[in-house]
Amino acid sequence: MKAQINTEKLPCHIGIIMDGNGRWAKEHGKPRIFGHRNGVTAVRETTEAAAELGVEYLTLYAFSTENWNRPKLEVGALMRLLVETLAKEVNTLHKNNIRLKAIGDLSKLPDSTRKALLEGIEHTKANTRMTLVLALNYSGKWDLAQAAQRLGQQVKDGQINPEDISQEAVANALSTSGMPDPELLIRTSGEARISNFLLWQIAYTELYFTPVFWPDFRKDDLYTAILDYQNRERRFGKISEQVIS
Ligand code: IPE
Ligand code: IPE
Ligand code: MG
Repeated sequence: MKAQINTEKLPCHIGIIMDGNGRWAKEHGKPRIFGHRNGVTAVRETTEAAAELGVEYLTLYAFSTENWNRPKLEVGALMRLLVETLAKEVNTLHKNNIRLKAIGDLSKLPDSTRKALLEGIEHTKANTRMTLVLALNYSGKWDLAQAAQRLGQQVKDGQINPEDISQEAVANALSTSGMPDPELLIRTSGEARISNFLLWQIAYTELYFTPVFWPDFRKDDLYTAILDYQNRERRFGKISEQVIS
């Protein structure tokens, strides 16, 4: 499978909505958190596969602003799992020259989670092979609102005029500033929705939906998604004859 991938046409940025942990656990007759724990294996495999291929940015939707509405027990377990996983995996990321980054409103995370995250980011900040972006307490609407607040403040401070708020200025005020937009967005578990993930950034992203539950997602599933992406024609509003090269 991997051999079929055209490395010249690799997506530079892949986003993943890691969904289906709860249903996976249910199928195995286990509590939901068992699914989240097994999702870590999929994160490891996917990160490794993406880095090996030469993908530059991998953004994983790990916790949405709406996920706070889940039972307290599950939210707490997820936050602890994050601390535990970072403690185990940051060294491996570092050894593999992978930089960790986070997007989302980190101020609302429990102190221990935020601390583990910021330490991991600091530890790996000079790495250059791939950037692994964790979307935590993230939502696309939050991102747009915080960008608007930032730009509003700059207008108020007299640094810019309202007419300076171009598409580029908005993109630069988003939490993904400096990153290319994802070319490919994968959602697992059979759901065909965005659930408030990157909104502005996916204007021209190719969407790929797979029925595989996240804990079962492996390297071959990533390769399959990339191959599917490589067989699509991205027209960006033009006609087919204009984009064939
Ligand atoms: C995704 O799996 C993980 C998070 C949202 C944190 P789910 O927990 O949403 O699993 P399902 O969708 O209930 O199966
Ligand atoms: C989206 O999954 C959020 C993450 C994967 C972190 P959800 O399971 O929360 O989405 P909905 O509620 O099914 O739309
Ligand atoms: Mg879900």
